[in-house]
Amino acid sequence: MIVSPSLLSADFINLGRDLDLMKQAGADWLHVDVMDGVFVPNISYGFPIISQIHKATDMPLDVHFMIVHPEQYVTRTRDCGVELMCVHAEACTHLHRVIQEIHACGMKAGVALNPATPVVMLEDVIEDIDLALVMSVNPGFGGQKFIHHSVNKVRALREMIDSSGSKALIEVDGGVNAETGRLLAEAGADVLVAGSYVFAAPDPAAAVQSLKVL
Ligand code: DX5
Ligand code: ZN
Repeated sequence: MIVSPSLLSADFINLGRDLDLMKQAGADWLHVDVMDGVFVPNISYGFPIISQIHKATDMPLDVHFMIVHPEQYVTRTRDCGVELMCVHAEACTHLHRVIQEIHACGMKAGVALNPATPVVMLEDVIEDIDLALVMSVNPGFGGQKFIHHSVNKVRALREMIDSSGSKALIEVDGGVNAETGRLLAEAGADVLVAGSYVFAAPDPAAAVQSLKVL
C-alpha cells in the first residue's frame, strides 16, 4: 500500500520535525490539502508553504486542490516542485483540458470525486489520468467519520480501471484508519491518505506502518 499522510493534521509549528518523522516512518508521499473557502467551507494553506515543504523534503508531494478554478494554478503548482496535482471533477468545467495542462507541465494528474459524485464521471478520462481520488468524507476538514459507501466506489473504479487498461492509481481520502483501510485495500485501493489517524496517534510511525502492510 502506498501511504500518503495528510499534513493538514501535522503540527505546523514543528512541520519540519513532522516531515522527518513521516520519512522515517516509511510514508511514501506527502498529501497536501489546499482549500479556498469557496469550493469547501474552510481555508488551509497555499503556495509559499508548499514550496517550503518541497525544499525541506525529498518525498513526492501529492497536492489535493479543493478550490474553484484549479486550472489557473497549474504552472504555479509546478513551480513549487509538486509531483502530482489533483483537482476536483466538480470544480472543472473542462476537466480533460486541465488534465492535459497538468501533464504539459510535467506533473502527474489526479482527479478527485466528492462523496455524492458517481465514479462514472471519470469514465471518459480514465485512460488520461494517473490517479483517481475517492473522497470518503465531504472535503474541508480532517477528523471526520468515514462514509462506508466509498468502499463500493473503490470497487467500481477498480473494475473500470482494470477493464480499460488505464494505469491510474486509486487513492482514498477521509476517515482512513487501519480498519477502514483494510476494507479499502480489499476493494482495490492503491493509495491511502490519513491525517488524524497518523498525527493524533501516540506513535505516528506505527500508524503509518499499520496502513503500509495492508
Ligand atoms: C479533507 C482532506 C483530507 C484530510 C483527511 O478534506 O482532504 O486530506 O486531511 O483527514 P482525516 O484522515 O483525519 O480524515
Ligand atoms: Zn485531501
